[in-house]
Amino acid sequence: ALPAEAQALEKYFVLDKARLNEIVGGFRREFEDGLKNFGRDTAMIPSYCLNVPNGTEVGTFLALDLGGTNLRVCEVKLTGNHDFSVKQQKYKVSEALKHGDAKDLFDYIAESVDAFMTEVGTENGEDEAVHLGFTFSFPVEQTALDKGKLLTWTKGFACKNAIGHDVVKLLQDSLDAKHIKVKCSALVNDTVGTLLSRSYQSGPALIGAIFGTGTNGAYIDKTETIEKLGKEAIAESVKGGPDAGEYMVINTEWGAIDNGRHVLPVSPFDNKLDRESINPRKQAFEKMVSGMYLGEIVRNMLLYLIDFSVLFDGHSSEAMNTHYGLDTALVSEIEAAKSDDQVVNVLTKELGITEEFIKPADVQIVKWACRMVTMRAASLSACALAAVVLHTGHAQSKGGDETVDIGMDGSVAEFLPFFEERMRAALRLILGDEGEKRISMGLAKDGSGVGAALCALQAKKAEDANV
Ligand code: BG6
Ligand code: GLC
Repeated sequence: ALPAEAQALEKYFVLDKARLNEIVGGFRREFEDGLKNFGRDTAMIPSYCLNVPNGTEVGTFLALDLGGTNLRVCEVKLTGNHDFSVKQQKYKVSEALKHGDAKDLFDYIAESVDAFMTEVGTENGEDEAVHLGFTFSFPVEQTALDKGKLLTWTKGFACKNAIGHDVVKLLQDSLDAKHIKVKCSALVNDTVGTLLSRSYQSGPALIGAIFGTGTNGAYIDKTETIEKLGKEAIAESVKGGPDAGEYMVINTEWGAIDNGRHVLPVSPFDNKLDRESINPRKQAFEKMVSGMYLGEIVRNMLLYLIDFSVLFDGHSSEAMNTHYGLDTALVSEIEAAKSDDQVVNVLTKELGITEEFIKPADVQIVKWACRMVTMRAASLSACALAAVVLHTGHAQSKGGDETVDIGMDGSVAEFLPFFEERMRAALRLILGDEGEKRISMGLAKDGSGVGAALCALQAKKAEDANV
C-alpha cells in the first residue's frame, strides 16, 4: 500500500467529473473574456489567418520554426492533393542566446536561414526574394498576417529588447543586414500552423493543439466573436485578400489560463515549481501540462517523500537535488517500462539513486507519482480541448454524424505513453460517450512548417491581388 504521505497527495491529481466540469467552466469564462478584452493572460489572439486550407494549395516556400525543442529551417513544397514534401535542417539555440539580446538571437536565426539556403538550396530564381512563413511559438499580439508584437516570453526564453517589438521586423532587419534575399511574409503560432497543416492533410479541423515543451491551442471561430477588435475592424479584416471570409483562426494562448489559480488543482509542488521558475505567476496551466515541467513536478513530489523518509530510505541523489534534474523523457520511460527492473534501471543509471536504497515498494511509489502527474496533465489537456468544443457549439451533433477533428503536435503528444487514451477518458466524463466518440484526433508531426508555408501562400495571394 502507498504510504499515508503519498495517499494524501492524490486529491491534487485525481479529478472527478464535477471537478473537470468546474475547470472547463473556468476555462470557457477566460476564453470569452479574452475575446472581449485586450491585455488578458489568455490572450485569444486573432491570427489574421482567415481560413483553413482544403488541400489543393500548391507552391514552394521557406519556413522557420522557433520555440519548440529545435530551431528548424525548412523548404516546404505544397504539391496539392493534400500532399507536401519538406527539406529541413535543425539548428541548436544555446541557453546564452535564449537569455541574451534579441538582436543576437535574430542574427543567429538569419544566419541559419542563410546556411540552409547555401547548403540545401531553394528552388527560387536568383532575383526573386523567397517568401518565408515564420512559426514563432510565443504569444504575439498580431495586427496583420505579417505583423505582431511579442507580449511575453514563455518556455525558458528571456531575451532582452524583444517584448513589445514587432518580431517580423526583428527578423527582417537581421535578414536585410546580411543581404539575405528572403521576405518574411507571414507570422504564425505553432498551434495555428498545426491547425492549417492538419486541415491541409486530412480535411477541415477545428483545433490545432501543441502538447510539447509548452502547450497551447488554436481554433477557428466566427470573426465577429472577437469583439475586442471592434465592429469596423472586423468588417475590414474580413474584406481583404482573396481568402476573405467570416472566419478567423484564433490563437488562445491557453498555457496562461488561470494564472489567478481559481479553478486549477494547484498542489504545493506546482507552487514550488512556479516560485522557482523564471516566470512566476505566469503560464499556470502550461506548468501543469507541458513537457518542460512534468518531470520537475515529479521530482518535487519524490523529494517530498524522500524528506519524510518514506522513499529510498530517505536518500536523494545529485540529479534529484538539481533544478530540472528529472527530465520529462524519464517520466515517459518509467511509464512505458514493462518491468520493475526497467524502472530501477532509470532510477540508478539516469537519476543516480543508489540501488541498495531502492525497495520494491519504492518502485511502486515512483510509478504512482509519474502516473499521478501525467494523468492530471492529460485530464487538464482534455479540459482545454473540451472548453473549445463547447465554446464553438460543437459538443452536440447537429443531426448528422459529423466529427470534430483535432490536429496535435509536440513531444508530450508524441512520446508520453497513454496520453491520448487518458485525454479521451476525461473527455468522456466531460462531454459524454457520444460527444467523445465524435472527436477525432491525430498527430500533425512537424506540422507548423507546412502551416507556415500555407500562410506565406495566403500572404502571396493577397499581395498578388493588390498589385
Ligand atoms: C514541432 C513543431 O513539431 O513541435 C513546432 O514544428 C512546435 O512548431 C513543436 O513548436 C512543439 O513540440 P516540442 O515538443 O518540440 O516543444
Ligand atoms: C507556449 C507559447 C505558445 C506556444 C506554446 C506551444 O505556451 O506561449 O505561443 O504555442 O508554448 O509551443
